[in-house]
Amino acid sequence: MLSHSQLNVAGPIIGSGEFGKVECASLQIESVSIQVAVKSVIPGNCRTACYRDFCNEAERLITLQEHNNIIKLYGFVTRGDPKYIVIEYAKHGDLKCYLHTLRNSVITVAIETRLVKIAMNVASALEYMETLRIVHRDLACRNILLTEDYIAKIGDFGLSRDVYESGEYSLLQGAEGQGPLPLRWMPPELLNRGIFEPKSDVWSFGVVMWEIASLGETPFQTLPVFVFSKMLDDGTRLHKPNNCTNKAYILMYKCWLKHIESRPSPSTLLEELEEFLSENE
Ligand code: ADE
Repeated sequence: MLSHSQLNVAGPIIGSGEFGKVECASLQIESVSIQVAVKSVIPGNCRTACYRDFCNEAERLITLQEHNNIIKLYGFVTRGDPKYIVIEYAKHGDLKCYLHTLRNSVITVAIETRLVKIAMNVASALEYMETLRIVHRDLACRNILLTEDYIAKIGDFGLSRDVYESGEYSLLQGAEGQGPLPLRWMPPELLNRGIFEPKSDVWSFGVVMWEIASLGETPFQTLPVFVFSKMLDDGTRLHKPNNCTNKAYILMYKCWLKHIESRPSPSTLLEELEEFLSENE
């Protein structure tokens, strides 16, 4: 546990989540000061669901610290308000913003390679989470952070669930105090029946690949939820982005198979992405 006196939250604001904001801060540990990011919440100022997500994220991050592609946790400030989750500061911010910066650049082989490595980092985090039976449920480029060396780290666990705790399959719909859900990243079984399991994250991983290939477009941007969820049910999928290779599109498409078991495992995704790398050499 950390204390308010160890933290100097001087900003700037670098993100906003469902439950509050994310700010830059410095953390004093003995005589060393390190740059960190803090997620804050004032329980009395937010809905019960958002405080619950904040606590859920804190709990999940403690469990998931043994992996380089998950944001590092420094600790919590729980005494007094606001309450803080203190995490590693990721210099290059979130992946969606980074992809937007690339829209005005020439995409060199070096950048293509970086993007494949970023996708591999995310697949590697999913592989690790699968061993712990943790389902993220909100995998999207906005929740992936980039360090100084462009290592991707999953950085937001507000909606994640332990499938042991919740049972193999859980019904989301009708759950009390449900906050906003990332519908455009969700597989049909989750959208329609509230069923989630590790392969739900594989579907969202396919959407992350699509966001990367389209340099940060929003999936089904122009369509209302009831339209695209019906389209998904009828077998329609996100289009192939401009300049996306057939191989990359086939891999994301496999993540969107209706039959849950037929979707690739995170380990298979890693192997296939590795092949893309050797093609870039
Ligand atoms: N935006 C959200 N969380 C962040 C973090 N840990 N580092 C940098 N930008 C962020």
